[in-house]
Amino acid sequence: MRMRANHSGTGKRHDGRFAIGCAIAGISALAAVSAPIAPVTQARADEEQPFRLCADPTNLPFSSDSPAQPGFYVEIGQALAKALGRPIAYDWYKSYFGKRTVRVTLLGKQCDAMIGLPRSDDFMGPAVIFSSTVAKEGYALVTAKDRAVGGVDDLRGKRVAVQFASTPQNLLASRDDIEKVTVLSPEEGMKALDAGKADVAFIWGPVAGWLNTTAYQDRYRIQLTEGEGLAWDAAIGFAKTSTELRDRVDAVLPQLAPVIADLAVKYGLPAGQPVRFGAAQAAPSGVTTGNGTKLAQVANVVATETKGDALPKNAEAVSNGKEIFNGTCAHCHGPDAVQSERKIDLRLLRHRYGDDMHDTYLKTVHEGRPAKGMPAWKEVFTDDQFENIYAFLMTVQVESND
Ligand code: HEC
Repeated sequence: MRMRANHSGTGKRHDGRFAIGCAIAGISALAAVSAPIAPVTQARADEEQPFRLCADPTNLPFSSDSPAQPGFYVEIGQALAKALGRPIAYDWYKSYFGKRTVRVTLLGKQCDAMIGLPRSDDFMGPAVIFSSTVAKEGYALVTAKDRAVGGVDDLRGKRVAVQFASTPQNLLASRDDIEKVTVLSPEEGMKALDAGKADVAFIWGPVAGWLNTTAYQDRYRIQLTEGEGLAWDAAIGFAKTSTELRDRVDAVLPQLAPVIADLAVKYGLPAGQPVRFGAAQAAPSGVTTGNGTKLAQVANVVATETKGDALPKNAEAVSNGKEIFNGTCAHCHGPDAVQSERKIDLRLLRHRYGDDMHDTYLKTVHEGRPAKGMPAWKEVFTDDQFENIYAFLMTVQVESND
């Protein structure tokens, strides 16, 4: 298995629109030549071309570079390649960088198809086009087997684990009759449930299902939910220029439906009639954790492109750092780093570390603290970008956050 070096964060890049525009101009000319007729020779050449799947090496239950356990999307990709009569190839790239990932891999022509994107024109349209829906994904209610939830009122008087900055947290925020237990990841939500610290976990469904299958002996009942910001259709995304491939995929998807259904069971994805919730305010910037909430993030992450050199040095650094921060870090650490949870309040770095602040910062952003939910970013940003984020953080340091 090959891990492609990540170049996305190294140095300045062109404005996304410019790069994408060029690619489109170049490729549609080719497509125009080969699209209308598909003579046998052409079809054969196509068949030998691998179907290049964009996939995350470490995102179970969706994808992984382990042949023993490839994940839901990768196995769908494999079935698809087979149905198209083409060998499969992979472009491995971590997906928690959201739109950036799509831009670098799919739109960068590193791969042909990315499974699991939210099927919505709001999502990077018109640059990205979609297949028909392959799965429904969203938040789920996790409870003991003998307890079902029929709607929000069934949560009254209960302790409900919700992930920080997620749609369920927003949805329940105004309900004083429901006790919220805030967690930082679906994993933590399952633990709270299992330890008896919560009665219900209202968390990202695919991860809940996966953990239930792999770590909790299928002890829990998992019900999908629906409502604004709670669930969406996941589809296969293609670059705008790949309409021909998209159409061929759409043509074979119906025959793959039973395979996809079996895979959903294999990977523990919640199924069944969803529980309907009224209009909720969707979380402002999606949910994030090291694992599993990728799709929500992909749907919501604001891309962090670097901007031009117009501003004076430090102001430019701060402004660039702030932009990266709000695009990538704010989901967990709060917009503009304003955060009431002390342990992830980055305004306390100076207070906490004094002279070691810079070293601790760099070590943490490079290596992450994976066990605690802080991803490693060294493959994503350059040291200049880390310094810019740091420059921004230095403008918001406080002595105390209360
Ligand atoms: C998926 C959620 C998440 C994202 C996204 C994230 N962090 Fe974190 N980060 C955490 C968590 C959780 C911790 C606390 C870890 C712990 O308890 O030690 C943390 C800790 C840190 C710390 C150490 C804080 C301290 O006081 O010890 C720094 C610095 C930091 N993050 C910077 C960043 C930066 C910069 C970004 C964006 C490039 C970022 N983080 C993105 C979750 C995240």
